[in-house]
Amino acid sequence: MTFIDRPAAIGLDLPRRDGAAKVLGTAVYAYETPVEHAAYAHPVQAAVARGRVTALDTAAAEALDGVLAVLTPATAERLASTEDRELAALQDDEVAFRGQVVALVVADSSETARHAAALVRVDYAPQAHDSELRADRDDLYAPERVNPDFPTDTVEGDVPAAVAAAAAVVEQTYTTATYHNNPMEPHATTARWEPGDGFLTLWDSTQGVHPARSAVASVFGLDEAKVRVVSPYVGGGFGSKGTPHVNVVLAAMAARAVPGRPVRLALTRQQMFALAGYRTPTVQHCVLAAGADGRLTALAVDVVEQTSRIKEFAEQTGVPARMMYAVANRRTTHRLAALDVPVPSWMRAPGVCPGMFGPEVAMDELAERLGLDPVELRVRNEPATDPETGKPFSSRNLVGCLREGAARFGWSGRDPRPGVRRSGDWLVGTGVAASTYPVHLMSESTAVIRREGDRYVAEIGAADLGTGTWTTLAQIAADALGVPVERVEVRIGDTDYPTASVAGGSSGMATWGSAVVEAARAFRARYGSEPPERAEASGSVRPADDRWAMHAFGAQFAEARVHLDTGEIRVPRLLGVFAAGRIVNPRTARSQFVGGMTMGLSMALHENAVLDPRTGHVVNHDLADYHIAAHADVAEVEAHWLDEHDPHVNAMGTKGIGEIGIVGTAAAVSNAVWHACGARVRDLPVTLDKVL
Ligand code: MOS
Repeated sequence: MTFIDRPAAIGLDLPRRDGAAKVLGTAVYAYETPVEHAAYAHPVQAAVARGRVTALDTAAAEALDGVLAVLTPATAERLASTEDRELAALQDDEVAFRGQVVALVVADSSETARHAAALVRVDYAPQAHDSELRADRDDLYAPERVNPDFPTDTVEGDVPAAVAAAAAVVEQTYTTATYHNNPMEPHATTARWEPGDGFLTLWDSTQGVHPARSAVASVFGLDEAKVRVVSPYVGGGFGSKGTPHVNVVLAAMAARAVPGRPVRLALTRQQMFALAGYRTPTVQHCVLAAGADGRLTALAVDVVEQTSRIKEFAEQTGVPARMMYAVANRRTTHRLAALDVPVPSWMRAPGVCPGMFGPEVAMDELAERLGLDPVELRVRNEPATDPETGKPFSSRNLVGCLREGAARFGWSGRDPRPGVRRSGDWLVGTGVAASTYPVHLMSESTAVIRREGDRYVAEIGAADLGTGTWTTLAQIAADALGVPVERVEVRIGDTDYPTASVAGGSSGMATWGSAVVEAARAFRARYGSEPPERAEASGSVRPADDRWAMHAFGAQFAEARVHLDTGEIRVPRLLGVFAAGRIVNPRTARSQFVGGMTMGLSMALHENAVLDPRTGHVVNHDLADYHIAAHADVAEVEAHWLDEHDPHVNAMGTKGIGEIGIVGTAAAVSNAVWHACGARVRDLPVTLDKVL
């Protein structure tokens, strides 16, 4: 590995290269791709949570002027693979969750398609369904692994014995709600089949063109060379576009059903709540035990969460507790209920985000019990090596983040007593929580560096879902080539470019950047410092150095105000300090941290999808009823970072910053609310009914 030691372009505060195009509206998104004779598809969704479709009357829909086709299980093409049952659209008459697609209308306009979809009459033979997650269900099961490939359960030492001998114990149950990704751009696809040779082009809003291509090729039984996925701009994803959902398959099916017509399909906001994935609700039974000196002696997290009946998704909620603190006796378990519910999927900081809520509120409760400052309690439990693997940390600066955050936030001299500070009619409190996120490096990514005249071009099928890839990859390439960043052009978001991994797990920059550095190294080795005007080299990411435990860390501080009469909760101030390796671009990085923290605030105070167990329906399936923090909720949000130098993680020294910002925020807010008013809220969201 060639560590970039003295970067010139890395670290520059450059504006987004795609910024002007996005703001001016000239950036072309998947649904808007200019194609000739486009048709439009609109799904019909199941109105029962479990059962069979007994009859589908499409006559009224088909009679509508402009309707081109109505696809049903009787008329839709047979897919080559139905192994992924989420993607196996219209293959049988079974309904596995409310909102599942039971028919698809294709029409001349989106309005006609939508109107016709409402005219399709569906009769069902409903079966008793079960859509309610409870920790006392008797059908909970242990999945084989939890995402992406962690052991389901871990045990080290003897938790009960340590609890029995402890000076202080916290044993409580914490819950997180159901959360839905709501990127500005919905899940949208334009699909076109070339006549004759069966070549499929998908302009799709995706976090990874190559992974999307693999999935779609397998569903349709196509050679990957017969599929192209294009995705230059993505209006947000947060994980929900990390793996393709059924909308992509439907768009391709629809386009094949109306030869000569490319088809556009965009899920409506309401459809996204059933079809685009979501974060499972979790029940976390946590045990913390410590000696009088505040050193942890036991830590246990037993998680219950849900998955769908047709496809397992096992959120790794217990995983962060395995490496967070120095504690000899540890236990983590995951149990799932397979329910008649939509298929859960990736959402910003999967596992880590929900999994740092229970333990980080429990740490606050433990500090209270021990009469210790909550910052100090965390500092005292800093491990020398990764407790889970025994490996040394490539770098670990949680303590630095806590100290820097405390200083910036004005933590010192804090009166630990709850409910004693007032500002007018408001009770005022402050809280802290730790944050972490693993450093991932994906195994597959290749980049090409080429010289074209006086410019250098970096090509890789990477994604920019608003994260800054267009800009930051150019900075990395410039330093690896030793040329000014203005001379580097970046080409991403197309399977015509070399294979790239998904923009997921905060791994994008580390993985694609490593490939770019390898390609630049090969380029310089081949051509020296005077390359000809047409020159080219490629390079691929190499496996991560597995001698190290590699994680980013952070500290989240929150101020909360609770109204004395109404219980209304406000968070006037959030401050995060992160240690996430080298920061490639402070401007795009700040946007990631602040965005993550804002999403964490949203999780703390608002977000809560309500699934009615009687119907299996996500009741608040729109942005009017599923509340997301608005500008009025978000006051001061400050993100800072330590200057962290980690030569072990990758050639750039970056750790990944897309997800850590959301981790710990909700715990910090809940802890601040306790400090303000004395109410310990263990169930998210922190709403006024829980503090009065
Ligand atoms: Mo992120 S949820 O791994 O896209």
